This record gives sequence, C-alpha cells and structure tokens, in this order.
Amino acid sequence: MRILVASFMLLMTVHHSIAQSRINIIPKPSMVHELEGQFVLNNNKIYVSAQFREVAVLLSDLMRWKQNRIFLLTKGAVAPAGSIIIEKTKGNKQDSASYTLDIKTKTVRISSAGYAGAINAMQSLAQIILTQDNKNQLPCARIQDQPRFGYRGLMIDVSRHFFPPSFIKKMIDLIGLYKINTLHMHLTDAAGWRIEVKKYPALTAQAAWRTSYGWKKWWNTDRDYVNEGDANAYGGYYTQLEAKELVAYAQKRGITIIPEIEMPGHSEEVIAAYPQLGCVGGKKGQGEFCLGNDSTFIFMQDVITEMMAIFPSTYIHIGGDEAGKSNWKSCSKCQQRIKDNQLKDEFELQSYAIRRMEKFISSKGRQLLGWDEILEGGLAPGARVMSWRGEKGGIEAARMGHDVIMTPGGTCYFDKYQQDPATEPEAIGGFLPLQKVYEYEPMPKELEADKQKHLLGAQANLWTEYVPTMEHAEYMIFPRIIALSEAVWSERKNMEWTDFQYRLSQHFKLLQRLNVNYCRPSDRLEIRPLIDAPAGSTSITLSSEQYKPEIRYTTDGNMPSSNSTLYTGPFSITGSALVKTAIFRKGRMSQHPDTIDINLHKAIGKTITYNKKYSSSYVAQKEATLINGYRGSLTYQDGQWQGFLNDVDVTIDLGKEENLSKLRSTFMQVIGPGVYMPHHVEVSLSKDGTQFTTLEKVLNDVSATDPKLIFKTFEVPLKGQSARYVRFVAKLQRGFLFADEIIID
Ligand code: ACM
Repeated sequence: MRILVASFMLLMTVHHSIAQSRINIIPKPSMVHELEGQFVLNNNKIYVSAQFREVAVLLSDLMRWKQNRIFLLTKGAVAPAGSIIIEKTKGNKQDSASYTLDIKTKTVRISSAGYAGAINAMQSLAQIILTQDNKNQLPCARIQDQPRFGYRGLMIDVSRHFFPPSFIKKMIDLIGLYKINTLHMHLTDAAGWRIEVKKYPALTAQAAWRTSYGWKKWWNTDRDYVNEGDANAYGGYYTQLEAKELVAYAQKRGITIIPEIEMPGHSEEVIAAYPQLGCVGGKKGQGEFCLGNDSTFIFMQDVITEMMAIFPSTYIHIGGDEAGKSNWKSCSKCQQRIKDNQLKDEFELQSYAIRRMEKFISSKGRQLLGWDEILEGGLAPGARVMSWRGEKGGIEAARMGHDVIMTPGGTCYFDKYQQDPATEPEAIGGFLPLQKVYEYEPMPKELEADKQKHLLGAQANLWTEYVPTMEHAEYMIFPRIIALSEAVWSERKNMEWTDFQYRLSQHFKLLQRLNVNYCRPSDRLEIRPLIDAPAGSTSITLSSEQYKPEIRYTTDGNMPSSNSTLYTGPFSITGSALVKTAIFRKGRMSQHPDTIDINLHKAIGKTITYNKKYSSSYVAQKEATLINGYRGSLTYQDGQWQGFLNDVDVTIDLGKEENLSKLRSTFMQVIGPGVYMPHHVEVSLSKDGTQFTTLEKVLNDVSATDPKLIFKTFEVPLKGQSARYVRFVAKLQRGFLFADEIIID
C-alpha cells in the first residue's frame, strides 16, 4: 500500500514538472532540456549561413523585424551577444530534417546540416516565441530533434469548394509551424477543375464553374457547369503563375506541394468540357475517361506535362480512386482495348491506364502516386500508394516493395465530426475526435521489419463536400492536424496524451495570435465505466478535451452543482446508478451534464443465442455486446454498437425464472451512411425455451428522412411477468441496424 502511494506521488510530481515547462513544442521533440535564464528578443541581429538565408528572412518576418538586421555568417565572423545564429553544420546531408536549437542568455543558435532541419528549428523557435505570455523573453533550453517519418502531409480538396491562394498560404504557414512537410492539393474532381492548363482552356473557362455554391445543393440538383463570368457561377482556379507562387512560398517553408489530377474516375467536369474523352460521346454525368480512346492518354500526358513544369514534387498524384466500371463494360473502344492487350476485365483495364501513366511519369524523372485502388488489376511497377480504405492496401503495397503513405479513413479523414454532431456544423458523418487522431500509429503492427522502410509516413485529408468556407476548413483542420503532426514526427515513447493536452493548452495562445478558427476543446465528458458484474460494482473514469478541468458529479440522478463531489480520479459505485457529471467554471456548470445509466440489469453476462447473425463488419464485442452492460457512444465504430444487415433476433437465457418489469434497447439512426431505426421491436417470453408468448409490438416513430444523428430507446413493458427466456426482435427497415445493449429489468 505504502509503495503504491509513493509511486502515485512520484507520478504527480512528474506531472507537475510538465505543467511548469515554458517550452511546449508540438510535435514533441526528441530531447528538450530546459535551462535557467532567458534570452531577450528585441530587434536582434541574425547571423546566417548563406544556404539558410531564407530561414532568417522567415524568422525576421515573423517577428516583424527589419531585414537589414540579417548578416551572412562567414568564416571567422563572430556574432555579438544578443544575436541569433542560424548555421549550416558540416555534412552532406542536404535534406537532413534534424536540428539542434540552443537558447542561451547571450545567443540563440540553430544548427543543421540541411535546409529542412534549419526550417524545423526556426519553427520550434517560432512556437516557443508565440506560446510565451511575454513574446520577448525566451526560456533558455537545449533542443535536439529529428522526425520519425519523412512524409508528413495534409491534403486539401479545393475542388468541392475552392479556396484562394491567400488561404492556401495561410495553411502553409500554419502547417509548417507544426513540421508538416507536404501539402497535397486535390485539384480536380466533378465539382470543379482548379488549375489553368494552357492546352485545354475549357478546363478553366467552363469545368471550373458550376451552377451553385454549396456542393450538396449542386450535387443533389443539376450537377451542371456554366461559363466563367456567368452571374451565378461558383468556382475558381489557380492560374499557373499563382500555382508557381504557391510552390515557391511552400518551398521556402520546407513544404512540398503535390498536385493531384484525377484519372480515370472523378472526372465529370473534364468530360462535360471535352465530351470526346468519355465513352460513346461522353453523355452527361459520366465520370470516367474512355480508356479505349488514345486521346484520353494524350490529354492526361499533356496535363501532367504542364503540371510537372509548375510543381517540382517528386510525386505526381493521379487519383485512381472509385472509378466506375459500367461505361467501360458497354463501350466498344474500351472492350477493344481489353482484347488487344489481353486484359482479363475492367479492373485490368484500369491497371493498364495507370501503368501507361506510370511509364510516362517515370520517363520524366518523377514518380506516380495514387489512391489504393491502383492495386486493383495489378500495381504498376514504379507506383507509390496512398492507403485510404484502411491500411490493407498500404500493407499489401509495402510488402510488394512499393513506398506507401498511410491516410486511412478512420483516423486521417478530417471531414468527419470531431465533437458531438449536435453541436457541430454538418459534416459528411463519422466521428474523429482529437484524441483518436493523436493515438494514430502509422506503422501497422503486422508489417514485417524489413518492409517498414516502405512506410514513408501519414497524411490527413480534408475533403470539402461539407466544408464551404475557409473558416470552416480551418475548424476542421485545427487542432486535429496538430495531433497528427506529433503522431508522424515524434517517437511513440515520447508521446503521452495528457502531456500533449498540456502543451496544446499553451498553443491556443499561438492559434489565437495567428487568427486561426480552431475547433475549441469540448466541455463534454467522456464517461468510461469498467463493470465488475460478479462483484456488482462499476469503476468510472471521466476524461475531457479540456486540460485538467474542474469536474463534479452525482450518482443519485440529481443535477450536479458546485458543491457536488469533485472528480479526482476513477471512483467506484455499487449496483445501478445514474451518474451525472459536468465541468464547472467559477461555480457554474459549463453545459448540460453528461450522464451514464449504470444498469447492472438481469441480462448481464447471461447466455445469448443469435437467431440471426450480426454483420461481420460491425461485430463490436461479438456475443457479449448486447448483454455486457456497456453502452455505445456517439459513433457506431466505438466497439459497443453492433451492426446488423438483417433483423436483430436474439434469445437470452436468464438461467432461471425471473420476474421482469421492462426491457429497453436503444438504436441509432444516421441516414448518411445508411443506419436506420428498426420498423418495430417485439419481445416474446418463455419459461421453457420452446413455448413463447409474444407481447405487443413497439413501433418506431422516428422519420427515416431526418438527417440528424438520432438515438431512440424502445421500451417494452413486461409487467412483472415471470420468464427464463427472452426473445428480442428488432425488425430491419432498411440499411443497417445498430444496437448496443438489451437491458432487462
Ligand atoms: C477517396 O477518399 N476517394 C480517396
């Protein structure tokens, strides 16, 4: 017992020291050693090695200093006290991203062998400056740092909604601050073509403009294109000059821009402007290029040639995702191509097209990058893969010796909700809170050690169907990209959620100073029960996106008040209880309390028989799910919601006859991904397991067209009847059913 207390105290001490630090860099550096004293910033001189001059300019701009304070660091030059020194160390690692940063009372010294490292050091220094209360006084420290992964990316979809160069520059500034070194721009899609191509002017005169602003309205109505200049046209594009400026702007900040030009699918806008590139004359709405037509390849090569002149990136992204195969099936030219090249099917036809592009791109000294569908029908020899449909494609490609970037939908798609959907602007669906991003591990456990070198890193994707404005884009990106930056830069052993939360709490000052519309941390409390059914007790853990908030709770169903029990750590309750809890500030509850109904009901841990099977895609806790006492949260991906593509039909054996008062079961509806309420629920009771008496149905009354996330508890009165076997049926309406628990009292 004594030892336990002692180690707890030690933990508390460590925690305390974390909280006192004034060096709060994200992503967490390999080593931070805070020292006594401080360095005073005041229009300091900067001495810089010639190769890194641009780094000095960036620092000077950040501080709004005069550029005539920048001096070249030449052999034998002695920087006077009060200087900032940015020096290139010996070594031929021009691309080294590692650095040291020494802040002493007399000088600040940045050292790196590579430009990327010098930029990274400058960004660490910028973070230290921008997170101080007094920006002119820097705590002394020695920092040594290098990245875990070489590829750290963000993708912005500028097709579904267009964002101007000024916004892209703001994002470059901000992600650079967090050592994200790649900006992938999704430049083309049905919703609009976004880059000038000299050879094909209709791409920007027409394919860049659509009939209405909001993507959803446009997609759900005419999906038409109009000409630039039309009164109601919505769209935009980057001129080649603007794109080149963005490339140069990013390069100075150590960021590579990768252009993505979609093929062979997601190309409705191109085929609208150039119908001859579609199958049989390119009828309206066709999204796939005709692959039997050589003009398609000429078009793609022409476009890629112009892109390569703008974007010096090693990788050229050609999309490759979600191409429909039906037009190719009925197109004589596509079928002829299949025949001529002895291809097996339309998947091999797609692979043929990607291989042809890969040959072209690699002949120009670049590398083809595509979404993981490019594996289908056979991966082109030099292709690199972006794994988005989970990690399977990435693992497969890495095992084949291809380089891979991870961007699985579940943890890297920033178009999902990040807090309670009821409190957020409409999103595409799903749930990706900050902590889940933070805990993302890019290296799959199953990837063999000798293949791990092919995993280059990870990337967040902001698809913008539901992100119409720049403010909203910032809200979706921040702070989640900050969490991802640590997941791709820092060693796992240096990462800890509470420590990150503290450092992030210091970065809100920085984000506010830079006018970032970041998603504010939620006041919702995550309530995690740990049920000990045999003991009849439950341990409750509460956590929050807020850093160390004042949490109070009750266990008797009453509203918590400023006098209710203060949460200091996991607590235990016996039997059933209604726990209500909230964050308090200045004696006031911050929002409506979060509650959990701990219900140690009669079915927990009993025997359940599935008369119909649950879906293999959403097994949750398998046979334990519906009778384990655990309730589902806001997302059906949390491992407590079980999915069904048929009726829920289970029989629970209570082990002995019991007097029953009621049965309750909650269902979720979120129609975007096809999750619906049951048509009705029905309960049958039996004493012997063969003869069942069926009770009155309880009908659903939730509209199947309501787009909100809805939970409904169906309650069936059992009126004290005695039974040992309870059969529960929830009738499938359409799509999926999701249930988390069958509560029998
Ligand atoms: C994708 O999300 N279709 C790459």
